[in-house]
Amino acid sequence: MSGSQLWNDVDTYFADRLAPDDEALRAALRDSEAAGLPPISVTPTQGKLLQLLAQTQGSRTVLEIGTLGGYSTIWLGRALPSDGRLVSLEYDPTHAEVAVRNLTRAGLDKIVDVRVGPALESLPQLADENPAPFDLVFIDADKANNARYVEWALRLTRAGSLIVLDNVVRGGRVTDPDCTDGDVRGTRAAIDLIADHPRLSGTAIQTVGAKGHDGFALARVLA
Ligand code: SAH
Ligand code: DHB
Ligand code: MG
Repeated sequence: MSGSQLWNDVDTYFADRLAPDDEALRAALRDSEAAGLPPISVTPTQGKLLQLLAQTQGSRTVLEIGTLGGYSTIWLGRALPSDGRLVSLEYDPTHAEVAVRNLTRAGLDKIVDVRVGPALESLPQLADENPAPFDLVFIDADKANNARYVEWALRLTRAGSLIVLDNVVRGGRVTDPDCTDGDVRGTRAAIDLIADHPRLSGTAIQTVGAKGHDGFALARVLA
């Protein structure tokens, strides 16, 4: 059995037992695919991890950067109380439209606010509203801007908040200091920021599974 087949089988087993889907999650993936969105959502076990992290945080408010069709948003939104709030930033209006439909079907439209536009424009607008600090920030958009997103996350959180970044392995190229790829450079800059920032304590964990080899970085806001 090849490595990837093995990872897939084990991921499927864990997902079936621990992160079972339901009609809203299935429909979100189905309609995302039908609308031509790329199949790059988090996996079920990863979505469940995000949900558990949000719950562990006692989250009332979550910020997501990179909505796509709202699949990760559904997992995160279900961690929140009925008067909670999830702001999700998405560049592509088509993605946002699909996401809003998926989130409405999942019964989360009251707590989720999908904002369309480049996140680096939406973030200052959001900050101007002086929102309550976000308990968890999930960064999963254009990786070239990862460090800037971590900086914004720092401005929009509190001591004890958690920042999670998706896709930090970049096929292993994250180890290459000379790599010119913007996504690699942005991810390395985010790792450096987490490593060196006095208000952050972080780590990164590699994952295998249905999406192959990848990983998350996690950072706790200290003060
Ligand atoms: N979090 C989703 C996947 C997000 S894929 C999930 O796991 O289900 C990355 C998304 O980021 C895409 O929808 C892409 O359009 C969006 N994106 C890319 N550049 C962006 C930017 N500058 N601002 C906001 N969103 C962006
Ligand atoms: C890819 C995967 C992601 O989770 C993401 O946010 C962006 C791109 C990918 O596999 O290309
Ligand atoms: Mg991702």
